[in-house]
Amino acid sequence: MKHLLSAGDLSLEQAVAILDTAIQMEQVNKREIKKLPTLRGKTVVNLFFEDSTRTRTSFEVAAKRLSADVINFTAKGSSVSKGESLKDTAQTLEAMGADGVIIRHPASGAAHTLATSGWIEGSIVNAGDGTHEHPTQALLDAYTIRQKLRDNAIGSDLAGLKVAIVGDIAHSRVARSNLQLLKTLGAEVYLVAPATLLPGGLAAQAKGHYYSLDKAISEIEFDAIMMLRVQSERMTASFFPSEREYARIWGLNGERLARLRPKTIVMHPGPMNRGLEIDAKAADSKNSVILAQVANGVSVRMAVLYHLLAGGSEIE
Ligand code: CP
Repeated sequence: MKHLLSAGDLSLEQAVAILDTAIQMEQVNKREIKKLPTLRGKTVVNLFFEDSTRTRTSFEVAAKRLSADVINFTAKGSSVSKGESLKDTAQTLEAMGADGVIIRHPASGAAHTLATSGWIEGSIVNAGDGTHEHPTQALLDAYTIRQKLRDNAIGSDLAGLKVAIVGDIAHSRVARSNLQLLKTLGAEVYLVAPATLLPGGLAAQAKGHYYSLDKAISEIEFDAIMMLRVQSERMTASFFPSEREYARIWGLNGERLARLRPKTIVMHPGPMNRGLEIDAKAADSKNSVILAQVANGVSVRMAVLYHLLAGGSEIE
């Protein structure tokens, strides 16, 4: 595997191999000295044309824990503001010796373009391209579901688990990547959204879909419920009457949380709009694994960098 562009590119064996490697990385991250020599001499570039807190910092920590050199590039304050193209920016960074490029870009397909254009030689990881895909988010989400199953001692297999993805599906690269990866891992994925935010093509790929969160909760015993951020910055039209209406009908609140199974885990990729798609009672509840998702981002991204850049060397 040279690049990671789409969750749909991963076979079951490849996905499980990354998730299993992440278990080993989690052990490293619990040590006093959280460092492996695996990527010594390699350079990883964080190429971020869109804002990020979790993804950019966790890739930086992951690369450093594997002993790689890291170049952090953000479009703000760079020569992109002078009109420099993606090609010239990427080639400039590769001239500094990049072995791997982690790219986040507002344009869907940007990571694919970089990987297939022949502009640069290094491995490309898609860290979020427009509304298209965010495969490492899907991997860390799957890892977190597995981890919670391990903690609850009921196995680490996702086959047959019922997962709800709720909210602004239309603008969500997290939803697109999770739908593909969770299906590969054997989970049953249900999409729950207002009709205006649920594209028919995606609904057709799910095990089922609902236009009512209350109906979904009353009919399916979910193992995990993944709330999505309402992406106002990508909306060019009005998709629901008001934020108050959205929160009332679609938001996960304490009252709806009480109707889930006691062990249903509550997920959110972050950043959260508290009071809109999720309220404090749900986000800060004992069912919430939102901070575990963030912590697991480091282990999973270490595993991805290991599989792409370490060339099959031993994890020491
Ligand atoms: N989940 C996620 O991609 O968060 P950031 O935008 O903070 O990276």
